[in-house]
Amino acid sequence: MITVTKPYLPLRRIFEKYVDQIYSSNWLTNFGPLEQQLTEKLKEFLQVDNLLLVSNGTLALQVLYRALNLKGEVITSPFSFVATTSSLVWENLVPKFVDINPMSLNLDISLLESSISSNVSGILPVHVFGRACDVWELQEIANKHKLKLIYDSAHAFNVKTSENKNILSYGDASILSFHATKLFHTIEGGAIISKDNEVIKECKKLINFGITAPDVIQGLGTNSKMNEFSAAMGLAVLEHIDEIMSERQIVYEYYTQLINPELLLKPITYASNNFSYFPLILKDENTVLNISKKLLANGIQTRRYFYPSLNTLNYVKYQPCPVSENIASRILCLPMYVGLNKIDQLKIANIINDLA
Ligand SMILES: Cc1ncc(COP(=O)(O)O)c(C=O)c1O
Repeated sequence: MITVTKPYLPLRRIFEKYVDQIYSSNWLTNFGPLEQQLTEKLKEFLQVDNLLLVSNGTLALQVLYRALNLKGEVITSPFSFVATTSSLVWENLVPKFVDINPMSLNLDISLLESSISSNVSGILPVHVFGRACDVWELQEIANKHKLKLIYDSAHAFNVKTSENKNILSYGDASILSFHATKLFHTIEGGAIISKDNEVIKECKKLINFGITAPDVIQGLGTNSKMNEFSAAMGLAVLEHIDEIMSERQIVYEYYTQLINPELLLKPITYASNNFSYFPLILKDENTVLNISKKLLANGIQTRRYFYPSLNTLNYVKYQPCPVSENIASRILCLPMYVGLNKIDQLKIANIINDLA
């Protein structure tokens, strides 16, 4: 079976080099030496001042909402993985959906201001598929209405804007997911990024039960610390990151040569591509179902990322988002990982071009 994604496994001897360090330190979790080393290495690689490692991207979001004191409604995109919305609802916040722009697939900024009211405390855009939002316009609107701006950057590892800055350096804060299927991963894991030292300090307290020193519990907290085995995996994967990025680019570009250009997304002009996903927008839902069925019959798995549109979830109040609902019904993500071979890509492309 050709799976839609394949977790990257670093060379075993490189992973073992870090695991050996765990065996000699006997330190398995709670801000251990490998967690500290990975924090420093990622700060340098991503060119950000502050970064806090956590146990997954979902908890990164939940902790941030609390650290930034979000209340009431939060404006967000309906076209994302379910965690963007569920994390808000889990924290008793109300998602207020703004439809997406059909080209960028991100929040349609022209619709944003009309949905801001006194109940809204923040904006949570998503750089979906690693496609950068217009961070400058979003910042202007957030400043004008004094709203917190948090980016769900789960897909946006190593994306740079035309200012040659990492996408994580915009807004009040961002999160990353380091789930096994992401281009950089720690098996399960994530990070919180913010320019503001105080936000990071608050998050560090929240992810450690509210504990700030031995015998000091400063308030309510949860547990979402990163363990040393996850940090070891992250350190080992990071040693291969240049090769991961360039191999993904080769796979991505080969698909773009093979597949009917009308089905491809237009590139974002003001930021780099991290080649994290390969989505197609097909003409209708039937075509999605036919193609995915035919591919599956040939041993090729695809995923309807992201379907359904999150404004239709049964635990949110339905707010119509016709563009997102339409795109969600027509989207299909193709296998995309280091090691996908050209013969398989050709087979995939031929089936798609025949049936699209
Ligand atoms: C857009 C988005 N946000 C949040 C998450 C949650 O991350 P995690 O799986 O690390 O909890 C994901 C996970 O894939 C995601 O795709």
